[in-house]
Amino acid sequence: MFTLHAAVITVSDSCAAGQACDKSGPLVRQLLEESSAAALGATVPRFQVTWSEVIPDERQVIVKRIRVLAGQDSREDDGASSVSGPPQPVDLIVTTGGTGISARDVTPESTLEACEGRSVWGLSYLMLQVSLQYTPMAALSRYGAGVCGSALVINLPGKPSAVQEVLPAIKPVIVHGCMLLH
Ligand code: MTE
Repeated sequence: MFTLHAAVITVSDSCAAGQACDKSGPLVRQLLEESSAAALGATVPRFQVTWSEVIPDERQVIVKRIRVLAGQDSREDDGASSVSGPPQPVDLIVTTGGTGISARDVTPESTLEACEGRSVWGLSYLMLQVSLQYTPMAALSRYGAGVCGSALVINLPGKPSAVQEVLPAIKPVIVHGCMLLH
């Protein structure tokens, strides 16, 4: 079966500082990797998560990490960590966290910058539409999506329950988008 490679970035000051446990990143991994063959037909590609990390809500860090993981910036000048990426650029980058409206929530604008303005607003619309079926509070989340190089980038909220609500619902569209970019 064809494999698409994915990276998961948890954007959270408290998790990055070791003050909270990251539950959403592992959940994104699980939902991406679990088989959706029943829903989509037996020949659909599967996701393999080749990289995951936790970073603070810092705009320049988020931009850099998306661009490095998408193969659009070199790793050498990345001061974030000594081991700074998977073996190859990934097909999909899913972020979780930092989509809200408080001053430290900067994931969507960082994603747009990393993607040089190439947003996929239909995916944002779809994520909002799905989420509003669960709670009107979803209107306070900025569901960003864009293309960085040949990687699709998706911004999910930070709450595990929100990840659970949104990701399975948009997965067929993400798969198709990644295939178009591959
Ligand atoms: N989206 C879904 N699907 N389900 C939710 O419960 N909670 C909202 C929103 N989006 C929610 C959701 C709330 S209450 C907030 S404050 C924002 O996500 C914050 O997202 P963040 O953690 O990425 O900043």
